[in-house]
Amino acid sequence: MDFTTKLRALVGRVEAGLDRYVPTPDTRPAILHAAMRYSLESGGKRIRPVIVLATAEVFDPAARHDPLPAAVALECLHTYSLIHDDLPCMDDDDLRRGRPTVHKAFDEATALLAGDALLTHALGLLLSAYASEPALAAAMGADMAEAAGSRRLIGGQVEDLAAEGRTDVPAADLEFIHLNKTAALLELAFSMGARLGGASEHHRAVAIGVGRDLGLAFQIVDDILDATAESATLGKTAGKDAKAGKTTYVSTFGVDGARRRARAHADAARDALRSLPGDLAFLVALIEALTDRKK
Ligand code: IPE
Ligand code: IPE
Ligand code: MG
Ligand code: MG
Ligand code: MG
Repeated sequence: MDFTTKLRALVGRVEAGLDRYVPTPDTRPAILHAAMRYSLESGGKRIRPVIVLATAEVFDPAARHDPLPAAVALECLHTYSLIHDDLPCMDDDDLRRGRPTVHKAFDEATALLAGDALLTHALGLLLSAYASEPALAAAMGADMAEAAGSRRLIGGQVEDLAAEGRTDVPAADLEFIHLNKTAALLELAFSMGARLGGASEHHRAVAIGVGRDLGLAFQIVDDILDATAESATLGKTAGKDAKAGKTTYVSTFGVDGARRRARAHADAARDALRSLPGDLAFLVALIEALTDRKK
């Protein structure tokens, strides 16, 4: 199967899983469940859940554990982070995934609460879907709590906001921001995929390293696209980083310097990936596609 066909098939599985594992929009309170689904169903590249499915398959093509609930849980967690990232008290964005942001389409309180609910749903889904495998459920739950927690995703978001309007942010602090606000969830995708596939601890550590470099490349490309692409292509407001005075790889190193750094991290991710056993063709191609992406 070629890369595009396989990617489409995996995204299709994720979207069917979202419909299956997230409460229906008429669940009381309907406004809340409608807001959760509004955001989830707006599209998105589904990169993190696709990595969960593809990594689990690399280590265990026979799929002894169904990776779909874990993949859906991660997409719920990521979508929560986007809803909150867009709030007026954070990046104050009104466009996301090609539609008005949740606080614009609904209201701010509903957006805040829909984000909270998606975060909690993510952990609940992991724990309940894998209840018959308590060690696996606990390990993935702990991975998720760590990646989403104060030292990783939230820590990165806090420092991202603190760096706004500053021109003296050291490169190491910029790397901290990207490593935590973005790479943490990519590392989580590889870690959960490795656990579901029964990988050794050594192989799981290598896979997490792939997620780290891919995550850095991914956020650097996000910074480049913010500075160079159109809102209509991105489905989110272009040019926001410069306007908000964000410290990004583009503001620190320029577009060309940022491109070189994204390339170096993508190469490191691909080289680390190639040391793993199994059929890696899809994941190798995914790293390239994400580094060359236009949105
Ligand atoms: C956006 O993530 C936030 C970043 C970490 C750059 P994605 O680019 O994966 O957003 P969607 O899920 O495709 O909308
Ligand atoms: C993404 O940072 C980090 C998270 C959403 C956790 P950005 O603020 O750059 O993401 P976009 O550009 O709004 O998608
Ligand atoms: Mg942000
Ligand atoms: Mg933002
Ligand atoms: Mg951005």
